[in-house]
Amino acid sequence: MERTTEIEKASGVLRAGGLVAFPTETVYGLGADAENPAAVARIFQVKGRPPSHPLIVHIGGAEHLDDWVEEVPPAARLLAERFWPGPLTLVLRRGRRVPLEATGGLETVAVRVPDHPVALALLTAFGGGVTAPSANRFGAVSPTTADHVRAELGDAVDFVLDGGRCSVGVESTIVDATGDLPSVLRPGGVTREDLEAALGYPLAVPSTSPVRVPGQHPSHYAPRARVVLVEPERVVAEAELAQEKGHQVGVFLPAPQAGTPVKAHAVVAIPASMPAYARGLYAYLREFDQQGCDLIVASLPSEDGLGLAIANRLRRAAGPRPTD
Ligand code: TXA
Ligand code: MG
Repeated sequence: MERTTEIEKASGVLRAGGLVAFPTETVYGLGADAENPAAVARIFQVKGRPPSHPLIVHIGGAEHLDDWVEEVPPAARLLAERFWPGPLTLVLRRGRRVPLEATGGLETVAVRVPDHPVALALLTAFGGGVTAPSANRFGAVSPTTADHVRAELGDAVDFVLDGGRCSVGVESTIVDATGDLPSVLRPGGVTREDLEAALGYPLAVPSTSPVRVPGQHPSHYAPRARVVLVEPERVVAEAELAQEKGHQVGVFLPAPQAGTPVKAHAVVAIPASMPAYARGLYAYLREFDQQGCDLIVASLPSEDGLGLAIANRLRRAAGPRPTD
């Protein structure tokens, strides 16, 4: 199908209250008309996500922000102008237009302008806001290709827009901008350093904000295989020990050790560049699952730049499982 026809079709599906999976620069989203409570409810049903967990409203440009929120404090305006379109989500006071179904009952709303031509074309054609979580089952690894979405959600989605592989690969940075001093609720594609440079003062990470963020619960962004985190220099030894004990081990081999032979089931050499690591992270986790690994041994990168978001996702992936 030609792209313009596809976009028309997808925006028709949204107008009719259906669900459209679409690419963004971070991960694929599972979208519905933000102003249609029944459509929004279907997102929660398809994802298996508790209805108290708020969604992000995606809009086509920073100039539409005021339509969706009660007020825009100066710091929020500055961040929107500097980073949109881009992997930054701003939490602000909910505008009347946003139904409580989309915010999990909160009086705040998360808004972002994605930096992906297909997402922007969809948002422009549709005209309204598209509320979208990552297009995966609750607690699982976010999809970074259209194939990931189809494999995980299949017929539960009415339309899948394929925009290729996501260029950032980890979710947006969520900033609570309701107060005078913005705080980071979830590290992501926009680095803390870039936010601080734009604001001219330091941010609190992690935030002490009482707002609920499901990504901060134990075991989120998790593959089927268990994830064990060890010091970088222990990765090879831990992996080989577990493999000897009968596990099917997947290994994230730290960049400095690339090329080291490892007796394990599957090995991924971590790219030396953090943007490349972030871009590949979720696909690697999925691949370990596909190859039948039951245990993944990894270490945390240094927590600056995109390393902060990568370390956050690996910690969540290694968090206690509901059955623990
Ligand atoms: O990059 C992304 O942010 C992707 C793409 C699709 O845009 N979306 C995404 O959505 O990661 P989701 O639903 O998987 O994660 C959204 C996060 C959740 O942790 C949620 O709690 C938080 O945003 N959130 C949404 N509204 C909020 C609010 N009003 N206050 C605090 N956190 C909020
Ligand atoms: Mg998610």
